[in-house]
This record gives sequence, structure tokens and C-alpha cells, in this order.
Amino acid sequence: MSNKILVIGSCNMDMVTQVENMPVAGETILGSGLQYIPGGKGANQACAVGSLGGNVTLLGCIGRDDFGKLQLMSLQNRNVDVTSLKQSSKSNTGIAIIYVNKYGNNSIVVIPGANSEVGIEYLQQQDNHFKECDFVLLQMEIPLESIYYAIKRAHELGKKVILNPAPAPDSLPDDILSKIDYLTPNETEISKLSNRPVENIQEVEEAAKVLLKKGVKNLLITMGEKGACLVNHNTTQVFGTRKVNAVDTTAAGDCFNGAFVVALSEGKDHKEAIEFANIASSIAVTRSGAQSSIPLRQEVNLILSKEAN
Ligand code: RIB
Repeated sequence: MSNKILVIGSCNMDMVTQVENMPVAGETILGSGLQYIPGGKGANQACAVGSLGGNVTLLGCIGRDDFGKLQLMSLQNRNVDVTSLKQSSKSNTGIAIIYVNKYGNNSIVVIPGANSEVGIEYLQQQDNHFKECDFVLLQMEIPLESIYYAIKRAHELGKKVILNPAPAPDSLPDDILSKIDYLTPNETEISKLSNRPVENIQEVEEAAKVLLKKGVKNLLITMGEKGACLVNHNTTQVFGTRKVNAVDTTAAGDCFNGAFVVALSEGKDHKEAIEFANIASSIAVTRSGAQSSIPLRQEVNLILSKEAN
């Protein structure tokens, strides 16, 4: 059995429509179809871990409604332990309104609902999961104070902390940054967090160094079709990704994060873990939706074995 991964984060029902171009302020446009697909960055990352063979527990909060039930079914089908997920009697399951344009890019508005109830007290009640796991993976769609609590507790227990800073706040406190083993922003997020422009690899590296100086151990920047860039005190390395026909990039970053942590939990080194994550997310962008797009382990293994020959 591989190491245990604790994912803490949001669960949403994604309401997705396809548009030609994104609407601008004041504009009304027509969308094509409406799909309901389980999503939420926390749930998607847990789904990726479970789908790719990791040993995963998800902490978060859903409502006692049909969207919550669909989320539970989706996660259980992908081997995620959801037995400690909170079910709120006060709030509805979170919702995300998603437009996907003709290039496969998306715009997302999240209505947090029950995600707002992932409080410190609930996390304190789950301390056994903090103690039993080896890796804690977080994103930023639950209350900030809960994220900070989880990072401090995981660090105190000597666990590896991975923070996907999405959606990115304007900044993160130094005493939090210094407890992060892997910070995994995209280019927009690292630009915001470092307060620097990020237009090319040199600027990615400069922005990463600002955060390294504040104590983050590794920056792993996802750059869409350009791949990913790892920056730490020893190296700056860019890992290209497979060329595919992207139809929907929703949850590609979530898939990357989940896959990366699965590979780390199996003892893979950085290079192997990033290549594994790049393959998993390159499959995800060829499919529609969030959890519906996340591949199974066999699919990633097939590509890995083809590349090895
Ligand atoms: O990262 C994609 C996710 O962001 C969607 O599933 C949506 O729910 C939002 O959380």
C-alpha cells in the first residue's frame, strides 16, 4: 500500500455550458447545452488521486441535497474515502457556473455554499487523519483560516504539505509559506503571489525565487500546453508536455496536482512525478468536464509504456 494522502478542500456541482466566446460585461450570449458534473478543486484533486491509484481521504463539506449525493457517488466510484466528509444541514452543496469556450478555456464563478463550513473545529475533529497521512494536499476554495490551520498542523506533525494556490489570494503570510513543501501555482497565480509580471520562463523563475526566499521549498508552476517548471534552491527545470487536442481545460490543474502527489507517495523522484502528472493532465484536457475528464491509472500507464518503447 502506498503512503496516505489527505486532501482538504471544496466540493462543487459544476453547471457547465459551451459558448463560442466568453461574454463581456453587459453582453448576453447564447450557450449550448447545460451539463451537471461533479467538481470542486478539492474533490477533483481527491478524485485524481483515487483514480490514479493513490490511497486518499477527502475532508470537506457538502449539503444534504442531490448535488451532495452525486458528489459522493462520483468520489466513491474513484476510490476516495469520503466517510469523514461533513454533511451540512444548513447549507447547500457548493455550485460552480462554468463557461467553456471554443478553445477549451473556461471562466468559473464559484458559489461556496457548504464549502464555507469547512471550519477549524471540524478539522480538529479529524486530527486522526492528519496523524495517519503522509501528504496533505490543499487548494483555496475553503475558508482561509482553515487552510492556514491545516498547513500548520500538517507541518507540526512532519507531513509533506502541497498547496495549490487556486484561486490565488493577493499574498500568503510568510509563516505559512515557510511550511509549504510544494507550492503549485499556474502563471497567473504565481504572478499575483509574487507581485511580479510573469510572461516568460525567466520571469517565472524570478517570481519563484521571491517565494523560495520566503521559505517555500519547491515551486512547481503549471504552464498549460508549455508544461511545468520546477524551481527550488538547487534547480530550475522545465518539463514539456504531450501535444494533444484540448477540448476543455477544466480540472486539468487539479488532475496534475493529484497525479503529482500520487507519484510522490509512491517514492518517485521529481522528474518522474512531473512526467506522470503531465501525462495525466494531458489526457484530462481531451475530455469534457471536471471529474468526468480525469483518467484512470491504466490509461496513464499505457502512455508511459508507449513512451518507454
Ligand atoms: O478547477 C476546476 C474546478 O474549479 C471546477 O470543478 C469548479 O468546481 C471550481 O472549483
